[in-house]
Amino acid sequence: MVLKEYSPYLEYKDGALHFDGVNLLKLAKEVGTPVYVYSANHIRDQIRAYKKAFLDALIAYAVKANFNLGVIKIAAEEGCGADTVSGGEIYRALKGGIPADKIVYAGVGKTDQELLFALEEDILMFNAESEMEIEVLNELAKSKGKKARIAVRVNPDVDPKTHPKIATGLKKSKFGIDIHKALEVYKRASSLPNIEVVGIHCHIGSQLLDLSPFGEAVEKIVDLYKRLKAEGIDIKYIDIGGGLGIKYKPEDRVPTPQDLADIVLPKLKGVEAQLILEPGRSIAGNGGILITQVQFLKEKDDKLFVIVDAGFNDLLRPAMYGSYHHIVSVREGKEKVVCDIVGPICETGDILGENREICKVERKDYLAILSAGAYGFVMSSHYNMRPRAAEVIVENGSYKVTRPRENWDYIIWEETP
Ligand code: LLP
Repeated sequence: MVLKEYSPYLEYKDGALHFDGVNLLKLAKEVGTPVYVYSANHIRDQIRAYKKAFLDALIAYAVKANFNLGVIKIAAEEGCGADTVSGGEIYRALKGGIPADKIVYAGVGKTDQELLFALEEDILMFNAESEMEIEVLNELAKSKGKKARIAVRVNPDVDPKTHPKIATGLKKSKFGIDIHKALEVYKRASSLPNIEVVGIHCHIGSQLLDLSPFGEAVEKIVDLYKRLKAEGIDIKYIDIGGGLGIKYKPEDRVPTPQDLADIVLPKLKGVEAQLILEPGRSIAGNGGILITQVQFLKEKDDKLFVIVDAGFNDLLRPAMYGSYHHIVSVREGKEKVVCDIVGPICETGDILGENREICKVERKDYLAILSAGAYGFVMSSHYNMRPRAAEVIVENGSYKVTRPRENWDYIIWEETP
């Protein structure tokens, strides 16, 4: 198993796993577990790979993947914008230093309060998902004496060939407006006094390892762009969403931003709009790991259970999508065991890894769950009254706790009776 294929900043040194130069054994002892650890260099490199492959594009980092303020700050420093899906994410993106004029806002259920907030902040554009949303936005913009810039999120009906729960561009999904109906919707939107039509948006799905669906979607978008142009509707931005897959299983072969550019850019020749991309997972996913500590070992029916202090409240992906996350021991060891790695939650489904071969571990040893930098902490919960994990950024041999571990009082927000 080649650790470096997950991240060039992940390696065993002096008997312990290191990330971005930091000894994780030491870090885990000092900060406690469970703890999410993000490599600043990994995240920067990913953003730079996008910027190099797509020279003039706006890279709007999808903050839903990892909204840690330290991570957003790195994205801001690298010149990224942000793709957001709620008022709260816009608020966070701004706090992390992303300028409002680089923020795009999608989502099928934006509330009036969220729309008004985004209008006040004067974000780059709303990626509108329904005709009714456009009408409401027009009214709200009018009440504020503003014009709302919009893209229509079109649903190109392509099969992204990914997990059904994260496929969004299919006809039957709740997202976007049917591409065949789009022209009509654009015409109506252009006639509204407080709406300025500026873009076309689409996002077909997440964790795509085969890039051909991107090609198919972009062809459909370019066709729409031309039809809109013929109607006198000027499109300034083409936003093709996120979705590039990352390595989860050791055998996964993963496309790069350059591979994506090779498919997409030739199809955009002659198009005079600025390209926007919304990568989330491919920026942060392999730039993060979750460290957890072994609490107990138990043998049952010839099966070895390694019981750790992270559960599906910390990392939901395995329980929710049946996702595979590779798990390695923080202390380097030679002897191997096969086991189920399970969390402390009161549900049978609280399994982080099934039938895994790992180095033989003992009570108080640490395990690192890889590819956990995207859709990890952000999907965590307080189920079973469990405080959420701490978050740490590592960079060139030093670390910083960007989000301290919560405690029980933090969770008890309600009034004591
Ligand atoms: N843009 C839009 C409009 C999106 O809905 C998403 C992800 C992205 C961009 C970023 O996609 P990415 O580059 O990260 O693939 N919780 C699931 C993933 C849900 C993705 C939702 N939308 C998981 O853990 O796999």
